[in-house]
Amino acid sequence: MVQNENSKIIIAIDGYSGCGKSSTAKTVASKLGYAYIDTGAMYRAVTLYFYQQKVDHQSKGQVRKALTSILLEFKFDENTKSSHIYLNGENVESLIRQMHISERVSQVSTIAEVRHFLVAQQRQMGEKKGIVMDGRDIGTVVFPNAELKVFMTAQVPTRALRRQKELESLGQQVELAEIIANLEKRDLIDSTREESPLRKAEDAIEIDTTYLEFEEQVEKILKLVKEPQST
Ligand code: DC
Repeated sequence: MVQNENSKIIIAIDGYSGCGKSSTAKTVASKLGYAYIDTGAMYRAVTLYFYQQKVDHQSKGQVRKALTSILLEFKFDENTKSSHIYLNGENVESLIRQMHISERVSQVSTIAEVRHFLVAQQRQMGEKKGIVMDGRDIGTVVFPNAELKVFMTAQVPTRALRRQKELESLGQQVELAEIIANLEKRDLIDSTREESPLRKAEDAIEIDTTYLEFEEQVEKILKLVKEPQST
């Protein structure tokens, strides 16, 4: 289903943590021959840098200065067949998934300077279209004119189990209760923050993945690419 250059579109996928956005977006992108950008990884990488450099989030001066020292890149990893995020030349794909980063990332994502810094880079990545981007504000702020917007949801226990599996695959054993508490806390911060809160764009198509198999999620989105509004 690889498309020619002119018919390439932007696919924006937003939703809460653990709804399967990233894995779905990655597979959709690969089936379409599109680029895939995990914007959550960008917020996580900034959080990791702030943590390592002990940046005081309350200090606008420190935040601004720190941002000038951050270079983020995505590079394709041949072993895992997926793109990995690099922070100032270092592959931080696993480091950014640690629980202590998950606990801090929502707070860092409320900082306006951080959002402006990352949104500008995300818009640049989408200039040539042919991209699937997932996050919280892609359909509302980053690409309000995206040709296809999807808003993914799922019930909390399902999301927590998926997150637990993902962490397990990275060698981290975390109690379900801790994951649920983290998801709920992040949902609250993500959807109530002042700067571009998580919300469904008016023209986004909602997909509840609670009872869907992974392949069904992917198929639904591919169908929307072929036949817009075919839910
Ligand atoms: O998708 P994720 O769980 O890896 O995202 C980590 C955090 O980053 C999430 O709690 C909120 C923030 N985020 C954001 O504010 N805007 C985005 N476009 C993507 C992520």
